[in-house]
Amino acid sequence: MTRKLTSLIAAGGAAALMFTTAACSSSRDGGGSGAGTNASGGSGGATISKSSLIGISMPTKSLERWNRDGANLVQKLKSMGYTKTSLQYADNKTEQQSSQIQNMINQGAKILVIAAVDGTALTPVLQTAANKGVKVIAYDRLINGSKNVDYYATFDNYKVGQLQGNFIKSKIGSTKVNLEAFAGSPDDNNAKFFFSGAWDVLNPLIKSGQITVPSKKAPATNDGWKSIGIQGWTSDAAQSEMQNRLNSFYGGGKKVNVVLSPNDSLALGIAQALAAAGYKPGASYPVLTGQDADLANVKNIIAGKQSMTVWKDTRALGNEVAKMVDQIATGAKVDVNDEKTYNNGIKVVPTYLLAPVVVTKDDIKAKLVDSGFYQASELGL
Ligand code: BGC
Repeated sequence: MTRKLTSLIAAGGAAALMFTTAACSSSRDGGGSGAGTNASGGSGGATISKSSLIGISMPTKSLERWNRDGANLVQKLKSMGYTKTSLQYADNKTEQQSSQIQNMINQGAKILVIAAVDGTALTPVLQTAANKGVKVIAYDRLINGSKNVDYYATFDNYKVGQLQGNFIKSKIGSTKVNLEAFAGSPDDNNAKFFFSGAWDVLNPLIKSGQITVPSKKAPATNDGWKSIGIQGWTSDAAQSEMQNRLNSFYGGGKKVNVVLSPNDSLALGIAQALAAAGYKPGASYPVLTGQDADLANVKNIIAGKQSMTVWKDTRALGNEVAKMVDQIATGAKVDVNDEKTYNNGIKVVPTYLLAPVVVTKDDIKAKLVDSGFYQASELGL
């Protein structure tokens, strides 16, 4: 908790409040969990028929995970009898997402499930939704600045970063290393949690001199994360940023030993930049982190081009959100397990947190194949 209190003093304002409340969550130190649940909220006894439209708004089709998320959720809702769904992808564009949501409302959607492109840009359309009594579940990414967000379901985002930071720490032991760090899209509310989780582990090692950052792209505090954020989480932008850093700061045989990548789409671009600069899988290949267990990245892990990924079983998130939809629809109490961490600047949004899991080459089969997330044949195993 102390790590966050310092931050509150340094930063002030709503962002810091959100950040600090994260510190106080029991789920942080307890490692997060999808297990114990409290019943909370409820939808005021309102009942919504199973033939009502459920709107699902996802940020982009260009990243594997959101395709998987959308498909899983539709399938799960169907299996529960909610046959009318509208699944829309917003091409990572805020305005497109708002107008898609507006259309869902016009078409009579009773519940909206939204993974926001920009966590701060949906206030007007959510007010329209609230005026019509439409309930809103924030999916994976918190929606900020609006009182009209009823529930939130996500993986423990700070824990994701901690898993990445601790993985790096355990890999480097006490050796001195060169590290490069990346952060996620500046408009994604999750990105600061990922960065903070990792930086709380790594920044002290930078300060102690064990880790050097040749590019100097190393925020002095967690609040500086946007300076190394990759807009839209694109692989291409991560690749060219990594290429620039390798060209500019790694002359004369200097090698990068560790790259903190917050997710798999960035790790894909970074691995390409490493390959182009002559880094080959093997003992001296950099430690490279990721998140999502995207297919291409799991293959890269098998090939030795990425060291780990943080797996978030999107099926579990879909199941949880489908359960929330049903609880709202039937007027039941809605299961949440965190009612203090996720302050969106206006209110604390009751949240269901799931636990993320580290996957390395050694446990791909045990975790990703045996669970049915991937077929062995897809991975060439
Ligand atoms: C999600 C990550 C994902 C990233 C890019 C984040 O909000 O939590 O799982 O990698 O967006 O799509």
